[in-house]
Amino acid sequence: MNLKPLTINGKEVKFPIIQGGMGIRISLNKLAKACMNSGIVATISAAQVGFLRKNFKKDTTGTNKEELINEITKSRKENPDGILGVNLMHAMNDYGEYATFLAQQDIDFIVSGAGLPLDLPEYLKGTKVKGAFIISSARACRILLKSWDRRYSYMPEFVVCEGPLAGGHLGFSKEDFENGNVTSLEDIITSVKEVVAVYEEKYGIKIPIIAAGGVHDGHDMANMIKIGADGVQIATRFIATDECDASEEYKQMIIESKEENIVRVDSPAGLPGRAIRNFLTKTLEKHNIKVSYCVNCLKTCKKVGIPYCITEQLGNSSNGDKNGLIFTGAKAYLIDKMDTVENIVKEIIRDCRKDLQLVGG
Ligand SMILES: Cc1cc2nc3c(=O)[nH]c(=O)nc-3n(C[C@H](O)[C@H](O)[C@H](O)COP(=O)(O)O)c2cc1C
Repeated sequence: MNLKPLTINGKEVKFPIIQGGMGIRISLNKLAKACMNSGIVATISAAQVGFLRKNFKKDTTGTNKEELINEITKSRKENPDGILGVNLMHAMNDYGEYATFLAQQDIDFIVSGAGLPLDLPEYLKGTKVKGAFIISSARACRILLKSWDRRYSYMPEFVVCEGPLAGGHLGFSKEDFENGNVTSLEDIITSVKEVVAVYEEKYGIKIPIIAAGGVHDGHDMANMIKIGADGVQIATRFIATDECDASEEYKQMIIESKEENIVRVDSPAGLPGRAIRNFLTKTLEKHNIKVSYCVNCLKTCKKVGIPYCITEQLGNSSNGDKNGLIFTGAKAYLIDKMDTVENIVKEIIRDCRKDLQLVGG
């Protein structure tokens, strides 16, 4: 059993860890720089990065694009050779416009979940940027690979398997959770590996499988490697760090969270999300929250009769409002102090190597 480096877009990182994209304004250039400096892959979340800008409501897409350029430029300044990607949710309105724009930037990959990015390779044609996707079932993986193969003869740079313990929007319906119909991350990886193997053989390539959702420490990581993952994607663990772009209030909420206060909430995106129970989620247990404005953010939002506005509430929390929507993964309650990205990466790799009985540095 070995811990192999991860290769993406011809570049190699020392440790097979991808820092997961976190919106709104949680994973931007500061976290990206720290991750690349610590030998792991960094991901900026494209979700409403322009939220704090004056012009955001008037020209949402234009403002977001300007802010994305700022974030990418700042990330790249220190780390021209690090592996840097952008998470672009397929559920975003103007997905094609954002993807085409991002494919022209100095990044290594665009990774898309929250829907099936059947059209992603279209926007990458003739560019240096690679495409990858996030799925929560072997079925979704099969549909995407079949479609990318037939329409574009294109394969993903890596595949992220996201299990039910992840943060942000979850890849399972409310009914799936209520009926106990959610597949464990372990089972998703095993079944996705079989689907991917067919295309690896056809194209004569290796497509790394990345495990995400509830990977908190080195033991979790080792378990994923043992069942055949090539790496892990970690998000929540990096929030309470000096370098994370989240507000200090958000970080404190993560540190103070208890297991019983981490809940699932309905989202206007149509999928459940996971969040810390606070004034907002308690209010939602009783009634919907008035929407103040609409920037037409998600294709999947019905706009009328929705519980709350996802951009407004995630944006508010990113700006320090403890009563906004505080997205988190299921294991946030294990975090009890601020730390640095470097310390966390070192600790995870040390414990993972111990579990895998690897010797040496
Ligand atoms: C605060 C927060 C925001 C997130 N935002 C996004 C997002 O905008 N797009 C996305 O595809 N995934 C998003 N995720 C999911 C992460 O990228 C990641 O795959 C997942 O949370 C991994 O599980 P972990 O948090 O237990 O490590 C978010 C997760 C968190 C915790």
